[in-house]
Amino acid sequence: MKDRTHNNGELRLSDVGKKVHLIGWVSKKRNLGSIIFLDLRDRYGYTQIFIEEENEIIKQIKSEYLIEVDGIVRKRNSPNKDLATGEIEVVAEKITILNSSKQPPFLIQDETDALEDTRLKYRYLDLRRPKMQRYLFIRNAICKATRAYLESLDFIEVETPVLTLSSPEGARDYLVPSRVKKGCFYALPQSPQIFKQLLMVAGFERYYQIVRCFRDEDLRADRQPDFTQIDIETSFLSQNQILTLLENLIARIFKDVIGYEVSLPLRRMPYKEAIERFGSDKPDTRYGMELIDLSFLKAFGPDSFKNSETIKGLVLQNQASVTTRKVLDELNLTANKFGIRSFIALKYQNGTLEGSFLKFFDDETKEKIIAEANLKENDLLLISNGKHRSACFSLGAIRSIYGKKLGLIPSGTHDLLYIVDFPLFQEDGNGGYVSEHHPFTRPRDEDLKYLDEDPLKVYGSCYDMVIDGYETLSGSLRIYDQEVQKKVFAILGLTPDQVRAKFGYFVDALQYGTPPHGGGAFGLDRLTMILSNTENIRDVIAFPKNLSATCPMTNAPMPVDDAQLEDLGIQVLRKE
Ligand code: AMO
Repeated sequence: MKDRTHNNGELRLSDVGKKVHLIGWVSKKRNLGSIIFLDLRDRYGYTQIFIEEENEIIKQIKSEYLIEVDGIVRKRNSPNKDLATGEIEVVAEKITILNSSKQPPFLIQDETDALEDTRLKYRYLDLRRPKMQRYLFIRNAICKATRAYLESLDFIEVETPVLTLSSPEGARDYLVPSRVKKGCFYALPQSPQIFKQLLMVAGFERYYQIVRCFRDEDLRADRQPDFTQIDIETSFLSQNQILTLLENLIARIFKDVIGYEVSLPLRRMPYKEAIERFGSDKPDTRYGMELIDLSFLKAFGPDSFKNSETIKGLVLQNQASVTTRKVLDELNLTANKFGIRSFIALKYQNGTLEGSFLKFFDDETKEKIIAEANLKENDLLLISNGKHRSACFSLGAIRSIYGKKLGLIPSGTHDLLYIVDFPLFQEDGNGGYVSEHHPFTRPRDEDLKYLDEDPLKVYGSCYDMVIDGYETLSGSLRIYDQEVQKKVFAILGLTPDQVRAKFGYFVDALQYGTPPHGGGAFGLDRLTMILSNTENIRDVIAFPKNLSATCPMTNAPMPVDDAQLEDLGIQVLRKE
């Protein structure tokens, strides 16, 4: 192989007449009788190769063959405006085949109709598609901007263990058996949360890490079992200072990676307002379609309705005529996920409100509904009632579906905001509590007094950054007082023995002059999705898992040899 003189995205009119040596994969071969065109591709782009005469070597060349071309650059008769090199072509003098290729299972081009599992099985070919390469370049650019910004502010990157103990982010752990201590397991970290706090105890003051995290949870379009966080922790900063730091970082990333100016400071919307207005703690506020408070309807209807904690409405504009029974059934499946049996659907057609539930309302109430919901001809009003969270979240889910479906999201804009003032705890449904964020989140100073009497009244010093409807960052100030930490563990139902077994080392550390500290973690994969304009997290990860958490290329996870199991002292009882 000779050194190449140029890459395939480089040659311009100013290079006409130059003798060049190019290397690349054959993206397309067009045989026009006596002359032949090849499109040569590498990570930089495409160059058209012009071949005057076919010979034995040229005959062999097929798609994805890797070839070397010696030739002369000349101006093209008919330029291709879609290509950076579209004004020139290289007239081949000599072509050498560097490597042949089997016929790929799908075409290597931006648009493909190949099944995703086929693409994942042949990921190395899928990643040859320029679109896929762009995603990974964007991902890399985000990391670069992050490092440049944080390093300029004295942050240092520190690696933390991958083989560790369970970390409390609320998902199931991936476990790794120990060969040396039989019957014992490491857990892969759900995040480096405790280690980064220990680095603050150690006095590093400013830490970051672009780090793999592992969570065994139900997968979705924006979730992977192993994913990456931009993890950040600081000492001695107030919540306000941390929010400023994080928003400056995100603004730098948007500017450097896609040239987009984020206007700062970001809005800070209380959690309560986000739920009430948008039915979501990660609202996309680029469009309206806000929930409507219909609590005045509590005076009517059957007892189950009257006793609702909350009654909320959502207007689906112009949807009355197209919302059939079948569509409603589908909407109700979404309602069910939030513990709502079914929505009440009212259609506003021919100037009147229709729907079986209307029998509970008098004319005046009907008029009030029309006015409050500002109903227009052919609108559909969905009403959700029950527990506050369920009523709001169920409609919030419909709002996101219809925001997209009705094309309400303006293109080319991004929507960044902080959600603040989260409750510290949520009910777990069995009379106990779970953390809204994680157990190390500091209660707001003014709410400390409620820790004993009513934990649900306690708000946390925590924040999420929501971008275009995705929870992209989550963070908080941390508890640095061991007594408060003990109290929070107790509210979460952990006995002192359990605390010792799970977090003993951490509780010990809190006793050695722990500084006030706090931070957050961006989901790098989600951020890359947003900046790449794709809704599929697998697009922005080089070798992702599919929705069943398996890798169609390596076939991981796989059974292991009996000898390996024996080494580990493990017997598998059930193989599915
Ligand atoms: P949290 O659990 O909210 O917080 O995670 C932080 C961010 O990581 C991303 N994320 C994910 N991305 C892809 N797939 C997943 N399965 C997944 N889970 C989370 C999200 C999320 O906002 N230790 C705390 C952070 C802190 O308090 O500093 C934590 O991990 O974008």
